[in-house]
Amino acid sequence: MALRLLTAGESHGPGLVAVLEGVPHGLPLTAADIDRDLARRQRGYGRGGRMKIEQDRVRIVGGVRHGRTLGSPIALWIPNRDWENWSRAMAPEPPDDAAQAAADGDWRLEPVTRPRPGHADLAGALKYGARDIRDVLERASARETAARVAAGAVARKLLGLFGIRIQSYVLRIGEVAIPSPVLEYGEDGRPPVDPAALEEATEASPVRCPDPVASERMVEAIRTAGQAGDTLGGVFEILVTGVPVGLGSHASGDRRLEGRLAGALMALNAIKGVEVGLGFAAAALPGSRVHDPIGFRPPRREGTEPAPAAPGPAHPAARAAAARAGADGWRGPAAGFFRYRNGAGGIEGGITNGEPLVLRAAMKPIATLRRPLPSADLLTGEPFAAHHERSDICAVPAAAVVGEAIVALELAAAWIEKFGGDSVDDMLRNYIAYCERLAAWVHRAPAPEASRAAGSPPAGGSQAGAPTPGRDPR
Ligand SMILES: Cc1cc2nc3c(=O)[nH]c(=O)nc-3n(C[C@H](O)[C@H](O)[C@H](O)COP(=O)(O)O)c2cc1C
Repeated sequence: MALRLLTAGESHGPGLVAVLEGVPHGLPLTAADIDRDLARRQRGYGRGGRMKIEQDRVRIVGGVRHGRTLGSPIALWIPNRDWENWSRAMAPEPPDDAAQAAADGDWRLEPVTRPRPGHADLAGALKYGARDIRDVLERASARETAARVAAGAVARKLLGLFGIRIQSYVLRIGEVAIPSPVLEYGEDGRPPVDPAALEEATEASPVRCPDPVASERMVEAIRTAGQAGDTLGGVFEILVTGVPVGLGSHASGDRRLEGRLAGALMALNAIKGVEVGLGFAAAALPGSRVHDPIGFRPPRREGTEPAPAAPGPAHPAARAAAARAGADGWRGPAAGFFRYRNGAGGIEGGITNGEPLVLRAAMKPIATLRRPLPSADLLTGEPFAAHHERSDICAVPAAAVVGEAIVALELAAAWIEKFGGDSVDDMLRNYIAYCERLAAWVHRAPAPEASRAAGSPPAGGSQAGAPTPGRDPR
């Protein structure tokens, strides 16, 4: 069964709906699991007054019983708290009191006719023949992303059972930028950061940037833009650790995982570019500095080596099987093979290679400006300043949280394709069997010393910290 998501609901309507089909039976799930991510989406310096009104909370209205999924479609309802102010302007019923309300001076009932450059306003109104841009802007608004975040939290819960951790952080706001903290591997064959410490630093920042100095400068940049009636975009990075080798496929274009992830991230409002691993930087480098040399570490044999300290799958048997197949928390099970760096961002040939996934997305500045750009009236063509409605100045920190949800949904879809099963127990059995196959492969592999030497990185070919040839970096 494929994973399918449908969302509905307008920005100022009664609420948002998400229906997620394909989640197996038996996944522990409560509203608190979802509310956590909804709250994270609403934080961040630079967001508009709306966030203070909303304080999203989900109601699970289908597909879950006594804290466990039923295998049926999961239906989620997120009420819009602002609805009470919009119940006439956004009423599903025909507005019999509209004329009276307009006479009362309710601006919400006035048709919007001055399209904002950079929003869906003009293209949408012309496409649908709408004489009131509100017919379009209500759904084009990123309020919809709350529904995607709610569904993504379910996907995250499923992946979390298997030790997969998805996090994001902001690398750029306007002109203030930091490099990716995870692409360059150190001498020990790992990025010089711990995912948990990275997450802590990220969540402590008002702009979700793990570098405190850059974080302050980003806040200042947003403040300055806001004072000028302007807006800012930026770049966020998504890091996924604990991913096994083998999700996605090289076999057909529509099964290649980087295409699916990039397509899904590009479908997030205001995202105008996506990179995987080195991304555009790879185009300027020779192959010897781009591709990730392969190393091999002998299998972990139970009883002779301590289990990895980093968290793995929650289920003890799955954790043990993953560890036997080379998982170490940072990397997923990959039969003992590893890379000395991660320019590929964890995907080769459309398939995960066991290294962490690293994706970046570029967000354009918010289109609703307090000092609006010139526009032309939809109905008369007369020149006017564009429409302005309460809006964010910068939403990159929030977009990063939505990006996590989008990646979670896409990865969960690939996970369900690979490990299948109607129930989480079926899936666990399939996962353990796969790990055992990978572990058996490791046991049959050539002697570690020989293959380690074969996997040494090419001389002078490090785009990251150069590992010592033949040395087990862990
Ligand atoms: C989390 C998030 C919050 C956003 N907030 C706003 C906003 O307050 N005002 C606005 O004009 N656009 C906002 N946007 C961007 C618009 O939704 C987006 O620009 C619009 O839908 C047009 O789509 P496009 O930019 O992909 O072409 C936000 C986007 C995201 C991801």
